[in-house]
Amino acid sequence: MNSKRVLISGGAGFIGSHVVRLFVNKYPEVEVINLDALTYAGNLENLADIDNLPNYKFEKGDITDEEYINDLFKKYDFDGVIHLAAESHVDRSITDPLSFIKTNIVGTVNLLNAARNHWNGEYENKLFYHISTDEVYGSLGETGLFTEDTSYDPRSPYSASKASSDHLVRAYFHTYGMPVVISNCSNNYGPNQFPEKLIPLVINNIKNMKPIPVYGKGDNIRDWLYVVDHARAIDVIFNEGKHGDTYNIGGINEWTNIDLIRVMCRVMDRKLNREAGASESLITFVKDRAGHDRRYAIDSSKLMNELDWKPSLQFEEGIEKTIDWYLENEKWMKNVIDGTYEKYYNRQYEER
Ligand code: NAD
Ligand code: TYD
Repeated sequence: MNSKRVLISGGAGFIGSHVVRLFVNKYPEVEVINLDALTYAGNLENLADIDNLPNYKFEKGDITDEEYINDLFKKYDFDGVIHLAAESHVDRSITDPLSFIKTNIVGTVNLLNAARNHWNGEYENKLFYHISTDEVYGSLGETGLFTEDTSYDPRSPYSASKASSDHLVRAYFHTYGMPVVISNCSNNYGPNQFPEKLIPLVINNIKNMKPIPVYGKGDNIRDWLYVVDHARAIDVIFNEGKHGDTYNIGGINEWTNIDLIRVMCRVMDRKLNREAGASESLITFVKDRAGHDRRYAIDSSKLMNELDWKPSLQFEEGIEKTIDWYLENEKWMKNVIDGTYEKYYNRQYEER
């Protein structure tokens, strides 16, 4: 690891918290600063197990605040940035596109500018790593995979805002010579995901015997990756990725939504000692998402061949682990649903 002080933006979110944990535990000599605005999706309870470690610090702040971000670079003299902070839910982007433009585009440019101002052309051992999504490539038909050379074709305000930020990060590489790297990952699942996303939503609804809303016919396809495997890929790319390059990260694990939900129903019937079929009876087909992308599937052979990464978990094991985590962490889910988690910051930080 070349970096001494790494800024991880969005570290209180789902994926960010797994990345922060991995870096704080694996690199005790590196100072990890988690910058997060603690929007509805940011939850410091995700990091309660590591927040007393000496190489971890939390800073509450907004990536769109220019003065604040410049001051933060002066305060910490970061040499590495791993940028995950974003508005991340497609359904929210359909009802409120502007907040996606502000955070995902303006916020990213703001971080790029602060890094550029602070590093001032001295780029040795510096790196700006931008975390993106496979959704920038658009929607696939029945066959084919997204590669790093697939043309961008975003179709939701979320994916359009992420595509735009990817282009801007590349522009800073070509125009200013800033060392950057980008990765585009498929759908993640695992502990600590906010229950507006499909998998935790389904677990929570099954547990509470509530209807499971399936958009359209349930035949849309996603490629699911266990979140810890994404964090492992981020570690490898941050340390060994070629500057200026893009890496696709995927699970080699395609499921139609309805098949995925049926598997989850069967696992949960078993874990909750329910009669076979009890959970499946909750499946309810609802109005489709506007502009719903049909299929995402990733070719991660570049990452696997060049940097020797591969997913560590089979899906069957990953989904069992995930369901077990949610069943064992009822309080986490309860706090998220009733909003208690938002008070954690005050308890944990302001009243200290
Ligand atoms: P998340 O919504 O769980 O977390 C986002 C975090 O960013 C939250 O902690 C939130 O408080 C913070 N944040 C939002 N706006 C901010 C702002 N203006 N300033 C500072 N912090 C702010 O998202 P996630 O699922 O963990 O995704 C993290 C990143 O990974 C995103 O960039 C997303 O596009 C990308 N990604 C996600 C997936 C997925 O399946 N979830 C897949 C591929 C890529
Ligand atoms: P989601 O978890 O929102 O991720 P993304 O849209 O970024 O892929 O949704 C995953 C898939 O599940 C997507 O095809 C939409 C579908 N979906 C439902 O059918 N019902 C739901 O309640 C949700 C949230 C998603």
